[in-house]
Amino acid sequence: MTILVTGGAGFIGSNFVLDWLADLQESVVNLDKLTYSGNLKNLANLRCDPRHIFVRGDVGDRNLLAHVLDQHRPRAVINFAAESHVDRSISGPEVFINTNIVGSFCLLESVRSYWSGLPPADQTAFRFLHVSTDEVYGTLSKDAQPFAEHFRYEPNSPYSASKAASDHLVRAWHHTYGLPVLTTNCSNNYGPYHFPEKLIPLMIVNALSGKPLPVYGDGLQVRDWLYVKDHCAAIRRVLDAGRVGETYNIGGWNEKTNIEIVKTICALLDELRPKIDATSYAAQITYVTDRPGHDRRYAINARKIEQELGWRPAETFETGIRKTVQWYLDNSEWVEHVQNGSYRDWVSFQYGQEMVT
Ligand code: NAD
Ligand code: TYD
Repeated sequence: MTILVTGGAGFIGSNFVLDWLADLQESVVNLDKLTYSGNLKNLANLRCDPRHIFVRGDVGDRNLLAHVLDQHRPRAVINFAAESHVDRSISGPEVFINTNIVGSFCLLESVRSYWSGLPPADQTAFRFLHVSTDEVYGTLSKDAQPFAEHFRYEPNSPYSASKAASDHLVRAWHHTYGLPVLTTNCSNNYGPYHFPEKLIPLMIVNALSGKPLPVYGDGLQVRDWLYVKDHCAAIRRVLDAGRVGETYNIGGWNEKTNIEIVKTICALLDELRPKIDATSYAAQITYVTDRPGHDRRYAINARKIEQELGWRPAETFETGIRKTVQWYLDNSEWVEHVQNGSYRDWVSFQYGQEMVT
């Protein structure tokens, strides 16, 4: 048996593939375009593992998808492939529409065609699991209840709008064609192999290289953080036991303001890699212009997946963030490798030249 994973060279996808093959014998076909955020170095430990079959390709390429599905005959498809960074979606939304909406459509159509040719028992057992985000629900006021599955979709950024559109396509392919789908909407992830354009890895790598730690606006925006391996375990649980056609919100009840996150990272670095002059990394915190349309608060109500499927995160924020900071300290070669020309172009565009020198 085999599964097909898309976007399995990115942050969450590579953690998922690594954990899957560490625990299970079932092989993984990994289809990834290797955009700036896809990185085969994340999967270096699998280089000689015949259970990992890597295919470089685009989820929008229906000929390739037909070929891969026909050749490998997966029992499930897990769709991680996406453009994932809100700031990039603000400065260049088109690729988000192409990959997250049109790409998801192409994938759904290719999978539907493959699935409809399966024998009835295999059709029933088949799953298409779509990995999505809590950002589709929009923003919460300070005292509002966390996002539950029945909340209305109110996406505010080009990224979240494109993910919302893909969620709707997945839903429609179930209702219209009977494709056995599952959708997961998770809160912000952090952990190993996180590309340093997102808040947590950006703060770690900037702190270590003596650069400013750019906090948008007043830094009091709230995100709900989940260690990436807990997200991967939740996806596996939904794949195994989720009810077809249902959506599951995934989160660990860990709401934190951005400034709290940045200060926590600085304190951990002060402990684990103290500066020679004994000053704190917190001195590098710099408030910068806010993100346009910045959502103020995200928070997940995870009761459905907890009660129905018995999933619980293994890490608290305190244990997860310590592991993450330590991982970045231990993997300086990986960090150097991802800070290549295209990374420098992005950082210079978004934050100014002083961030790359
Ligand atoms: P990422 O940017 O690190 O990885 C995305 C991967 O998809 C990369 O390997 C990239 O090469 C690949 N990809 C991009 N366009 C492609 C295309 N057209 N065809 C094939 N592959 C393509 O993103 P991530 O943080 O790992 O997120 C994975 C998924 O999880 C996304 O769907 C995202 O919306 C969702 N999600 C992310 C978070 C988070 O906090 N990072 C939270 C909830 C949901
Ligand atoms: P990010 O990691 O980009 O995830 P998302 O926008 O999908 O939640 O950002 C997390 C929070 O951190 C968000 O409120 C924006 C803020 N942020 C900063 O303050 N500075 C930064 O340099 C970045 C990248 C994000």
